[in-house]
Amino acid sequence: MNHTLSEQHAHIPTNSPPHKQKSNTTTLLPLRIVVVGHVDHGKSTLIGRLLHDTNALPDGKFAQVEKSCADRGIPLEFSYLLDAFQAERNQAVTIDTTQIFFHHAGQPYVIIDAPGHREFLKNMVSGAAAADAAILVVDADEGIQEQTKRHAYLLRILGLSQIMVVINKMDKIDYNADRFAEISKDITNYLSQINITPNYILPISAREGEMITSQSPNMHWYSGASFLDTMANFSRAAPLLDLPLRFPVQDVYRLKEKRILVGRVESGTLQIGDTLLFSPGDEQATVTSIEYWPPKDNKADTPKTATSGQSIGITLNKPLFVERGHIAASPDTPPMLSNVIEANIFWLSDTNLQIGSRYTLRYGTSKARVSVQSIDYIIDTDDLKQKTDTATVPRNAVARVTLRIHHPIPIDPYSHNPAMGRAVLYDGKDVAGGGIISMDHHPDLRRQNTPKAQNITKVTHLLTPKERARHNGHDGTVVWLTGLSGSGKSTLGMMLERRLFDKGYQCFVLDGDNIRHGLNSDLGFSPEDRAENIRRIGEVAALMARSGQIVITAFISPYHSDREKARVAAKGNFHEIHIKADVEVCETRDPKGLYKKARSGKIKDFTGVDAPYEVPHNPELIIDTEQNDVDTCVNQIFEYICDHVDLSQTPHSLK
Ligand code: ADX
Repeated sequence: MNHTLSEQHAHIPTNSPPHKQKSNTTTLLPLRIVVVGHVDHGKSTLIGRLLHDTNALPDGKFAQVEKSCADRGIPLEFSYLLDAFQAERNQAVTIDTTQIFFHHAGQPYVIIDAPGHREFLKNMVSGAAAADAAILVVDADEGIQEQTKRHAYLLRILGLSQIMVVINKMDKIDYNADRFAEISKDITNYLSQINITPNYILPISAREGEMITSQSPNMHWYSGASFLDTMANFSRAAPLLDLPLRFPVQDVYRLKEKRILVGRVESGTLQIGDTLLFSPGDEQATVTSIEYWPPKDNKADTPKTATSGQSIGITLNKPLFVERGHIAASPDTPPMLSNVIEANIFWLSDTNLQIGSRYTLRYGTSKARVSVQSIDYIIDTDDLKQKTDTATVPRNAVARVTLRIHHPIPIDPYSHNPAMGRAVLYDGKDVAGGGIISMDHHPDLRRQNTPKAQNITKVTHLLTPKERARHNGHDGTVVWLTGLSGSGKSTLGMMLERRLFDKGYQCFVLDGDNIRHGLNSDLGFSPEDRAENIRRIGEVAALMARSGQIVITAFISPYHSDREKARVAAKGNFHEIHIKADVEVCETRDPKGLYKKARSGKIKDFTGVDAPYEVPHNPELIIDTEQNDVDTCVNQIFEYICDHVDLSQTPHSLK
């Protein structure tokens, strides 16, 4: 039994995390560690113990704490060492991150902590506590508690993959091997459900100093290395060399004749002579020099290549409009462009996150105003169930949310690029929440149709969209109504057109039945023909929107992918509105008698009867025409347009 246990737990199989490399002690960069766990499970005691056992404490500190505990007649409290240490540090540093340094076996370590639990979580979520490895502390007596799970989930959201679980306070359970095995099993089960494989699970007693620097005679059944020796196996997160280049511009300096773009290469490599594409624009230029600080004495020594992790400056062969926040990449592997972001976030603010609330999103070196389009689900970190149909996310909850931004921004999902795929939400100056970006349901707005013809070159307009907007008094945009036949698209579209027109706006409805009499008279209702129908309309609508019109489209557009292509054609200047009514209701309405014909087999491939309708995953708006009368529905869309399209300028025609 003891033998099995030792084998089982001494070295929990280590799935070597991707992008990790063995630390290079010659650089003496400290390995960054966070310690998490349920309150009172011994996090501070463990840190205090580490400081003591690695001789990291300032002279006299231990004696001072020992004396004050003795004076109060209480046993020595190792957590007081941390408190004393932090109090001293906090006088020197005003930021609320505390860095606690210590060495073991020649390797420097830094524990990133904060004086309060709340500040600590904020640091983690905002990236201030970006760590190479994490230690999850679990009380041997109490086992897994609510916060154990929440913190473990937080590690997962923040993408930490080097994890040591310590089952602390083994002294409280008389160093019982069975109890250790039981908790190890519980925690492994939970972690595996959230896709975390802990690298190690160790029994320790931080208070008694058991298994910290050496193996413990009290736990002879455990044959693995001590805490500190196990920690020595962790490695610094390696720079993301193999990923596509991402160079977010931090600032633009002018030095004599030179215009230098400075920033940190977050992933990939960059060389003199490389052509770079700058997002969110699509201008390209070639790198003419790489600048380092301080400059090399001998110019010939200046490297011609910069790799991830390096802070550099570059100059380009031509002047481009580039500013802080723009991201340079190779033209073949640029970041996605999107005005919608899906993110798995940990919410920290006292004020609940709500649909429609606005925040500042920080990503890379940039920021953007975002509004919450939807709360897709909240995850109960206890049983990992997803709760949908919720309008708010309370403090300390984990949720998947969809955020909307006015203009497309460059985005990398976390799974593609851990350095770029993080999102932090600020409410004013305060970190309100943060997590990782996933873009499973949204297209890259950069994607475009590749023309069949060759030798065609784009011609640039001499009018800018801004000039057109000033002339019209509003931006052009695409309002895309989708829904079953009979759901109300055409009726609402035409009434909306009237309403906008009467207010002085340029608008036009493109309606399925009308367009199928002209432009698309060559198309039927096969999936291919429907796709071509929507492709053409998507392009036409995008052109009309660029010309300054508010274009309302009324097409069934049953396929998700076709609607997404229309969104891409409009470069995200697109509002998908699901005109929602069940097929049974549409069938009762049956304004053109087509459902009847379809049921009797006179019409084939009729949507909702024998052809599919893919309900929008995450439309900008849902209009329920079963529950609301026509006027209410028109009002809802009209209000939405007023909120989301800049109609603030006086239309030229009304001047
Ligand atoms: S879509 O699927 O390609 O988007 P579209 O909106 O252009 O369809 O045209 C739908 C209209 O065509 C319906 O409102 C209906 O009047 C008519 N129609 C005729 N046959 C069909 C069919 N098989 N399926 C759906 N609509 C049809």
